[in-house]
Amino acid sequence: ELPFAESFKIKMVEPIRRSSRQEREQWIKEAKYNLFNLRSDQVFIDLLTDSGTGAMSDRQWSAIMLGDESYAGASSYYNLKNAIKNILGFDYIMPTHQGRAAENVLFSVLVKEGDFVPGNSHFDTTKGHIEFRKAHAVDCTIDEAVDTELIHPFKGNVDPKKLEDFLSKHSDKVPFVIVTITNNTAGGQPVSMQNLREVREICNKYGKILVFDSARFAENAYFIKTREEGYANKSIKEIVLEMFSYADAMTMSSKKDANVNIGGFIAMRDQNLWRECSKFNIMFEGYVTYGGMSGRDMNALAVGLDEGTEFDYLETRIKQVEYLGKRLDEFGIPYQKPAGGHAIFIDANKVLPNIPKEQFRAQTLAIELYIEAGVRGVEIGTLLADRDPETRENRYPKLELLRLAIPRRTYTNNHMDVVAVALKNVYDRRHEITKGLEIVWEAPIMRHFTVELKRC
Ligand code: F0G
Repeated sequence: ELPFAESFKIKMVEPIRRSSRQEREQWIKEAKYNLFNLRSDQVFIDLLTDSGTGAMSDRQWSAIMLGDESYAGASSYYNLKNAIKNILGFDYIMPTHQGRAAENVLFSVLVKEGDFVPGNSHFDTTKGHIEFRKAHAVDCTIDEAVDTELIHPFKGNVDPKKLEDFLSKHSDKVPFVIVTITNNTAGGQPVSMQNLREVREICNKYGKILVFDSARFAENAYFIKTREEGYANKSIKEIVLEMFSYADAMTMSSKKDANVNIGGFIAMRDQNLWRECSKFNIMFEGYVTYGGMSGRDMNALAVGLDEGTEFDYLETRIKQVEYLGKRLDEFGIPYQKPAGGHAIFIDANKVLPNIPKEQFRAQTLAIELYIEAGVRGVEIGTLLADRDPETRENRYPKLELLRLAIPRRTYTNNHMDVVAVALKNVYDRRHEITKGLEIVWEAPIMRHFTVELKRC
């Protein structure tokens, strides 16, 4: 059998630069030990996020040249609308400038003070938009998700019992249920078709709207095809259509699985909901046929939705993440298993158990990895979990992770080798790392973006 190789070749490149350990020590100190504060040229391999950081295709770039910048009714809007109808199955759509903007608009209609929004793990902006409205996100993810060593094909699933228990008691305070596909916070873990179907049935029973946070829906479909019984012979596009058939509405960060640098949208079946959303969209985003996006970007997005739901593309993408996972396995480095769709999540509780949890284990590991090789990851742990909005106490999540998110079509497996060996070097000296970080300044909400830290 021939070895596997990428389903693309490279037409345009962008230089990146190595630096010295001494330079990096200086830069990260100046950045207040917050990786978001680094300049991109201080980073060699940037795994901060897979959001908007991918490489567009030649078809996408050519679609950009055909962008229609008319304020209202641009052909680019109709290209996007048709792509969403054909690929996702929704009749009503509204472009927004990115995913959190879609959340802002939709939640302005649906969420009010005192509400509860259950689902699997909510992404931080999703939770932020819920808590900002003095409502609460209820995490009903299956318990298996917090055991990083446990292999489960659909670790992102909603626990139907937890969801139903909650609804049976508090249904009157629940405006909708939200399922995030894939479950980013739990490690880029997928949700099975069966689980989506079960959640749909529970929503029907309690008369609830079901919303999908769809940033990585195509990666989710790949896992359904390759892991769930009955789907091996279906195309990704068939699987995607079935997935969304269970949802009433969706929010989308197009910066992930639609392979564009900026953009988002809301899609729904109900015209009344669309009308309600349009008020907020016009106030916050822009007129309903562009919502903060340029025509050329809507064109690239329409093509991205099509390409992003092709098997060959997804296989190349997800096998690269798997490749990094396999390299880490060779070195015995603990991460959330199986490897996620868009990222590897290192289990910082297992790597740095000697650091008190109050000193931010995953952030400390992220800083060490940066200093080691100029690789930038991101903390998905205590800093991100933030304080409880009422008690203002730090929240300590069950998982304390360093996420290494792989941009799409951007790095080669040689880069993955550098990441793996850099982590191994840090891992080999983990017993010498006994002190973490302490907060010098933090914002009242979503502190991780701007927090300032110092070494303990
Ligand atoms: N939902 C999920 C599951 C996400 O991962 C993100 C963003 C959003 C919504 C918000 O979308 O960034 O376009 O406003 N995730 C990025 C990340 C930032 O790094 O995981 P956005």
